[in-house]
Amino acid sequence: MTQDELKKKVAESALDYIKGVSVLGIGTGSTVNHFIDLLADFKQDIEGAVSSSETSTAKLKKIGIPVLDLNAVGSLEVYVDGADEVNAYKQMLKGGGGALTREKIIAAASRKFVCIVDESKYVDVLGKFPLPVEVIPMARSYVARQLVQLGGQPKWRENYITDNGNQILDVHNLNILNPVEMEREINNIPGVVTVGLFALRGADIVLLGNESGVRKLD
Ligand code: 5RP
Repeated sequence: MTQDELKKKVAESALDYIKGVSVLGIGTGSTVNHFIDLLADFKQDIEGAVSSSETSTAKLKKIGIPVLDLNAVGSLEVYVDGADEVNAYKQMLKGGGGALTREKIIAAASRKFVCIVDESKYVDVLGKFPLPVEVIPMARSYVARQLVQLGGQPKWRENYITDNGNQILDVHNLNILNPVEMEREINNIPGVVTVGLFALRGADIVLLGNESGVRKLD
């Protein structure tokens, strides 16, 4: 199976977690795109979705699912999203698609985070994938210097502006042995909006699509 077929397969398996849920949190990325496509068949049961990006919003609207403001819905029962890396503790590295800030907000506001990935995203230690950090534009160089102090090699994602009007630094060569501590440390740098480490609030369920089926971590 191709990686995209595995993404589709794992997206299908997440449908089991939205039964009876009328308002969903929806992430961003190619795996979630498959999930959104599948939602078309269930739209009569779905009151609406809180979306983590303009891209997912457009896709949801196209299939006729109303997109709701998080402020109007309060806490969410389930949030479904992908990840760039996930470890055995259900901690994730996210933000390859640049939507990390809204993703982290929705994750925090949701009772259950269902992470859907193909098995290639499963790692022993987070950090091989460059860690995205969303920054206020005027702070970019300052934050980059602080990230070097933490042992990383930040690279500006040039010609890219987030949905929130900010910029992204992708931090290479990190070996993240303590994701909770690193998330806290990077959160504390002035000018950082969001770091793509989801360790303080990890996933509740991880579904990993592989050749023989879907493996679940819970
Ligand atoms: C977007 C994300 C995505 O979940 C992550 O990049 C995985 O994407 P894909 O499903 O395309 O592999 O964090 O900001």
